Amino acid sequence: MNQDSSTTVRIGIVTASDRASEGQYEDRSGPAIVEYLQQVLLTPWEPLRRIVPDERPVLEQTLVELCDQHRCALVVTTGGTGPAPRDITPEATEAVCEKLLPGFGELMRKVSLEKVPTAILSRQTAGTRGNTLIVNLPGQPRAIAECLDAVFPAIPYCIELIGGPTLETNPQRLVAYRPPKK
Ligand code: MTE
Repeated sequence: MNQDSSTTVRIGIVTASDRASEGQYEDRSGPAIVEYLQQVLLTPWEPLRRIVPDERPVLEQTLVELCDQHRCALVVTTGGTGPAPRDITPEATEAVCEKLLPGFGELMRKVSLEKVPTAILSRQTAGTRGNTLIVNLPGQPRAIAECLDAVFPAIPYCIELIGGPTLETNPQRLVAYRPPKK
C-alpha cells in the first residue's frame, strides 16, 4: 500500500565529493538539486542533505540510512559517476539497490551528450531499494537540471509503482507522466 499522503515527503540529497566533504570546495550541486525540486514539486517535501567523501562504505551506509531509516521517497546523488579511481557512486548505488533502472542513465547520457561530449564519461544509474528510488547525477552543477528535466517526468509514477507517496508536480514547470489506467 502507498504511504500516507498527508505526511511530508522526504527526499535525500547526497553530494559525493572528497573535497566538498572536507570543506575545501563549496558544494553547489546539492543546493542546485534542492532548488530544482522547489521549482518542480507541489507536494510538501523536506530535503535531507548529506555531503560524503568518495568512500564506498560511507556512501552505501548513507544511502541505506536515507532509504531504510528516514524512509525517503527519492534519493538523488550528485558526483562520483565518472571514470576516476575514486568515482564509486554507481557501484555504491548498485550495491544497495534491489532493482536497477538502467534507462535513467541511458536517457540522462543521451540528453547530456547534446550539451557536452564528455557526458559519455558518466556511469550514472538508478535503482530501487524498498520504497525508495535512488537516482545518480553527475557532479557538475549545470548537469542537475539538464538531467532531471529528462528523467523527472517518469519519477512520480516510478515512486508510486514501488509503494511510495504520490508526488504532484507544478505543470507549468514539469508535467509528470502517468500511463492511462488499463
Ligand atoms: N552531464 C551533463 N549534463 N553536464 C555535464 O557537464 N559532465 C560530464 C559527465 N556528464 C557533464 C555531464 C563529465 S566532464 C564527467 S567526468 C562525468 O559526467 C562524470 O562526472 P562526476 O564524476 O562528477 O559524476
